[in-house]
Parts: sequence; C-alpha cells; structure tokens
Amino acid sequence: MPFNHEIADAIEAFKPEVMSFHFGLPQEDLLKRVRSWGCKVISSATTVAEAEYLAERGVDGIIVQGIEAGGHRGMFLSDDVNTQVELETLLKQIASRVDVALIAAGGIGDGHGVKAAMENGACAVQIGSAYLLCDEANTSSLHKAAIEHAAKTQGHTALTNIFSGRPARGIVNRAMTELGAMNPHAPAFPYATNLMTQLRKESEAIGMSDFSPLWCGANITACRKISAGEMTLALMESVPHDNNYE
Ligand SMILES: Cc1cc2nc3c(=O)[nH]c(=O)nc-3n(C[C@H](O)[C@H](O)[C@H](O)COP(=O)(O)O)c2cc1C
Repeated sequence: MPFNHEIADAIEAFKPEVMSFHFGLPQEDLLKRVRSWGCKVISSATTVAEAEYLAERGVDGIIVQGIEAGGHRGMFLSDDVNTQVELETLLKQIASRVDVALIAAGGIGDGHGVKAAMENGACAVQIGSAYLLCDEANTSSLHKAAIEHAAKTQGHTALTNIFSGRPARGIVNRAMTELGAMNPHAPAFPYATNLMTQLRKESEAIGMSDFSPLWCGANITACRKISAGEMTLALMESVPHDNNYE
C-alpha cells in the first residue's frame, strides 16, 4: 500500500527515528511531515540515476540494492530489468557519484561480503535472505522447505514479475517456469497478486509451493537454521580482522 497521510497519522505517535522507503519516495508534503518528527529518511536505489534522484531530495541514507537481493527490486525510475547490476559494480558507481551514507544490500552472507561492501563505499550493510531460515523469521514452512531444497540441490533464483506485477527475486518454481519468470502480460503491480492468490491458496493447502512467491536472494546457501542473534554474531565474527567496521 502506498504511504499516505492516513498511514502517517498512525505512525506519528511513535515518531520513529528512521523510516525506510522502497520504490522511491513519498510525495513532498508527506516527506516534509515525516522529517518534522525528526525522522531520518532512507530509500533504495538500484541504479546511479535513482541514487542521484534520492540524493537531490536530501535523503539521509541510500540502500544500494544489487541485483542479487531477495524480494522486490526497489527500482522506480525505470522498469527495465536490464538496468539492474550486481552490488559490487553498483556500489562503486554510486559511491563515486553521490555524497550520502550508503547501505549495501544484495547477496551478503558472511564477513567477507561485509568487508567488500565497506571497501567499495558502504558504511553499513542490510542483509535479508540470510535470515530467512532463522528461528525468529516469519517464513512459512513451505518457503523454508523450498530454500533448504534449493540450497541442497544447487537450485537457483530469478527475477520474476508474475506474483505481484513488479520484478522481485525468488527461488524458481513451477509458476515461474511455466508462465515465464518475467511475463509481459503480468497485470500491473499490485494486481498480479490478486490473480495468483487463488492458485497459491489452493496449492499451499495441499502442501505445494509451486505457485507461491518464494522470495530469496541469489546467495541461497547463506541461509542458516540458527537464531537471528547467532546469525548476527557469526556475521560479525567472520569479518576479516584486518579492519575495524563495528
Ligand atoms: C523475504 C523478503 C522480503 C523483503 N521485504 C522487503 C520490504 O518489505 N521492504 C524493503 O524495503 N525491502 C524488502 N526486502 C529487500 C531487502 O530490504 C534487501 O534489499 C535484501 O534482502 C538484501 O539482499 P539479500 O536478500 O540478498 O540479503 C525483502 C527481502 C526479502 C528476502
């Protein structure tokens, strides 16, 4: 659901310190309202043009989302997936063009990934997929089973628009294979969800994930069945010691 004044009314009582937006930024009046709470604003960029757009609008931080990232691409200035590149390249390009704090996202699953992101211009990292099997994660049992199966069998992920209408990365399943992962006839976001939900519900009820969005980043083997705390400590401890990135 797009961020609007009604949602802002509900959030205002909490006066969050940071708000992170995907698919660009809300309208200027809403952004002004959020900033009036003393809230820092961050958003994702998937291209240099998007990073420059966000920097021009005074964001406090930019999530640099490489093509490896799980879930929806935050792309908002173009819908051409050919504009999307891997994290290392994107980070270097954006770091050389904008002077805003950069948060690296996409495929990071160990300390070496954290270190590489810092060396390429990030001041922090955002990790999503690696936590999908963690005890605290809300990942459904079918989704968890698909991740584990893909990790064991060298399964892979792909970008697909068939589940929501917008490109997102998930484990390749029957729906993606048979409909075509990027299908030009997919209804616009978010209407594709309504259509797929019928098939999804029926198939999930009989224990199949063939028609479910199985969001996951390209680095599937980074997912581990441990607690989120253990995962975070393991990530911190695996950062090579020739630096100091706490
Ligand atoms: C299951 C899943 C759900 C996600 N949902 C959101 C979301 O609601 N908003 C958002 O800004 N990013 C979302 N992301 C994307 C992450 O913010 C981030 O770009 C990504 O997880 C980083 O790459 P990684 O998954 O390879 O670690 C999601 C990612 C995953 C895997």
